[in-house]
Amino acid sequence: MNTKIFCDIAELDQIKKFNKKKIVKGFTTNPSLMRKAGAKDYKNYSKKILNICKDKPISLEVFADDYKNMISQGKKINTWGKNVYVKVPVVNSKNIFTGKVIKELNNDNIKLNITAVYSAKQTKKILDVINKKTKVIISIFAGRAGDAGKDPIPEFIKSMKLSKKFKNVEILWASVREPYNYLQAKQIGCQIITVPPSIIEKIEKFGKSSKKLTLETVNGFLKDSRKSKFKIDDK
Ligand code: E4P
Repeated sequence: MNTKIFCDIAELDQIKKFNKKKIVKGFTTNPSLMRKAGAKDYKNYSKKILNICKDKPISLEVFADDYKNMISQGKKINTWGKNVYVKVPVVNSKNIFTGKVIKELNNDNIKLNITAVYSAKQTKKILDVINKKTKVIISIFAGRAGDAGKDPIPEFIKSMKLSKKFKNVEILWASVREPYNYLQAKQIGCQIITVPPSIIEKIEKFGKSSKKLTLETVNGFLKDSRKSKFKIDDK
């Protein structure tokens, strides 16, 4: 499976750097990444990102928590660039399914990325409200599920099965924790994975032999022993 790699980042200099890489096919952001990157004015900052990333798909999230404002933010964000996917959380903070928001924006032909998904049940609810032509990404958060002791793989597999008839839907492996997640995403046939920059750099270096890995490990331990001047005397 040719799983596309997106870069999960909101820092402008990183977007500049990773936008030049062929391996990076798109970008995802979220309000926490925007805050971490120092964004103060959401619209202004997003426009700066879009000035760098003009062609590759980029997801920008709504931050409203009610139906009306989610829709109005979604419609505005959509006008900022033709490569924009409007990111909408699957529920709001009161655990109310955002189906009405998803349905309305999807009907309006707005490309969406439905985020914070953890189960195939949620995927089914999303598929039930969308059409079969406007592009929709469904982001399943693998790492955070794993952090909570849940295996995300069955949810991916079921979600992919459910969305098979939707040519406009792509399942995205979100919340990456290690480079190996890329191979897992490929193995199960996930269409997209979104990866933080430092992990993309590790993926680019895939392919070291076991011999090289052993030598690097042994040399690292030896170097640290020497730096600490470890000694075992006879006493
Ligand atoms: C996805 O679009 C999210 O921005 C991201 O993958 C979240 O990952 P985290 O769990 O590392 O915050």
